Amino acid sequence: MKNTISTIKEQKKNGEKISMLTAYDYSTAKLMDEAGINTILVGDSLGMTMLGYEDTISVTMEDMISHTAAVARGAKNAFVIADMPFMSYQTSVYDAVVNAGRLMKEGRANAVKLEGGVSVCPQIKAITEASIPVVAHLGMTPQSVNVFGGFRVQGRDEAAALKLISDALEIEKAGACMAVLECVPCRLAKYISEILTIPTIGIGAGNGCDGQVLVYQDMLGMYSDFTPKFVKKFADVGTVMKEAFAEYISEIQSGAFPDDEHSFKNNDTTDYAELAEKLNG
Ligand code: KIV
Repeated sequence: MKNTISTIKEQKKNGEKISMLTAYDYSTAKLMDEAGINTILVGDSLGMTMLGYEDTISVTMEDMISHTAAVARGAKNAFVIADMPFMSYQTSVYDAVVNAGRLMKEGRANAVKLEGGVSVCPQIKAITEASIPVVAHLGMTPQSVNVFGGFRVQGRDEAAALKLISDALEIEKAGACMAVLECVPCRLAKYISEILTIPTIGIGAGNGCDGQVLVYQDMLGMYSDFTPKFVKKFADVGTVMKEAFAEYISEIQSGAFPDDEHSFKNNDTTDYAELAEKLNG
C-alpha cells in the first residue's frame, strides 16, 4: 500500500510508530521499499555519505534533484521526502517555493524538508499553500553547524527548551505536515510529540517520538568517518563489502574469476586466427 501523508498521520493517531530511513539511490530505495519502510528521506546528509564533504553546506539543488529522482524511481510504496539544501530556501519565500517546486517536479518527491523554526515559518506557509507538503527539522539542524560550532544536542537548558517548544508549535501552525527532531533530550522530544498533532520523527531524540529516522550507511556500518552516539548498527555491511571486494581482487589475481559459469561460450569451432587472416587480404 502506498504511504501518503494521510496514512502517516493515521499512524500517529493509532499509536503505530513510523519508520524512516535515508536513501540516495535507486537500488537502496528499492530494497527499503521491499522491506516495508514507511518513508524515505533523501537527506542532504548525502553531502557526507555519498559525496565525501565534511558537512551539508556544499550540497546543491542539482545534487538533491538527481538523487531524489533516483530514489523516487525505486520507492513504489514509501513516501519520499527531499531535503531542501542550504541556501535554497533561506534567501527568500520566492526562492523557497521555486526550489520546493523543482524537487517535486524534477525529483518527483512527495514532500520537502527544511531546517528551522519560527524564522522559516513564512517559507513553510508559502510552500504548503503551493500544495507541497513540508516537513520541518528542529533541534540540531546540520545546516547551522557554523552557528552551533559543531554537531551538539539542543534544548538542554530551560530557555533552549522553551524556544524548541515554541518553534514546534509555530511550524505546525504554519502548516508543516511532520517534524524531525534531531539530538533533543528524550523527555523534551516526548513532550513535543504529545502537544503536536502532526507526527514527530526522532533522530537522537529517544523513543517518545512518533517515528524514527537513521542515516542508512550509519545503521549498516558503512560510514566510519563519524558515528553519533544515537546510531545503532543493525548490520555490519561495511565489513561484508570490504571482504567481498578483497575476495574479488584476489580471484582476479589468481585467475579464479571469471570461471566457465560466468563466461560466454561459442558452440562453433571457428579458428579465430584463420578468420583474422581475412583482414589482411
Ligand atoms: O540529511 C539528513 O539525513 C537528515 C536526517 C539526519 C534527519 O536531515
